[in-house]
Amino acid sequence: MIKKAVIPAAGLGTRFLPATKAQPKEMLPIIDTPTIQYVVQEAVDSGIEDILIITGKGKRSIEDHFDRNYELETRLEEKEDEALLHEMRRLSDMADIHFVRQRELNGLGDAIYYARHHVGSEPFAVLLGDTIMDSVIPVTQQLIDTYEQYRGTVIAVEEVPADKVNRYGIVGGSSLSDSIMELNTLVEKPAVESAPSNLAIAGRYILTADIFSAIEQTPKGKNNEIQLTDAMRLLLKRECVYSHRIEGRRHDIGNKMDFLKTTVEFALKRKEFAGPFLKFLKEIVAQHS
Ligand code: UTP
Repeated sequence: MIKKAVIPAAGLGTRFLPATKAQPKEMLPIIDTPTIQYVVQEAVDSGIEDILIITGKGKRSIEDHFDRNYELETRLEEKEDEALLHEMRRLSDMADIHFVRQRELNGLGDAIYYARHHVGSEPFAVLLGDTIMDSVIPVTQQLIDTYEQYRGTVIAVEEVPADKVNRYGIVGGSSLSDSIMELNTLVEKPAVESAPSNLAIAGRYILTADIFSAIEQTPKGKNNEIQLTDAMRLLLKRECVYSHRIEGRRHDIGNKMDFLKTTVEFALKRKEFAGPFLKFLKEIVAQHS
């Protein structure tokens, strides 16, 4: 049973400056909900009870977001806004949420290494704090199901257009089913001609505790950081690693274009906005065509 999750959220978010100069990119809202709240919700919906968020300098608002705010609650009580009051209280009750600070920004592999004492020897889920998944079955739940079947590291992947494989970490291996592969290679940003597939690593993982010794043995790589992909490549030499092609769509909120698209898509799914917002979009499109 996988009951613990780690959410790395310490990164600088340089692709989203200046918005991320003084606020975490994981707190950028899609409509009215911070990105990291969607991520925590996915973990909770997948049966996770204990969450460790990796934070760092300038990330206090993430801790405040999942804490009680008595002043706000009193004000909502006075206004008799039961729905909002309930929602605010639910936030601090979603799961058992812990925080640890990554002292230096040494990359995603290094961020995960900070979780070693918290997770101990159990397998655990990893959900990138800047990536929202839109799916019917929560993506982390999909990965947990695959873990239960194969009992090894599982990496979420999604298909990307062939001409974009050079932007992603790409997996290769032999198919075990429609959506699952046993991996024999992991390549960071391969040239289109040499890419082992068009399946890109998608920001969700089930990792075993063996990842920690692999991270210890991983030298600094791209950007002089300890890359999780490099550590997983080491792991691949020692044990079976699987990929799971997700049913759902990934939204990388750290990328401005994805952020805009996600805002529009999610607004169109919300009852209170769908009609008027679609009308507005049609008018805008008409003006620009
Ligand atoms: P990214 O590589 O997208 O984050 O990491 P970044 O470095 O903040 O992004 P840019 O390129 O500068 O815009 C994916 C996730 O891993 C976390 C980030 O906070 C993000 O949620 N991360 C990354 C860490 O926790 N620590 C790190 O050292 C790097």
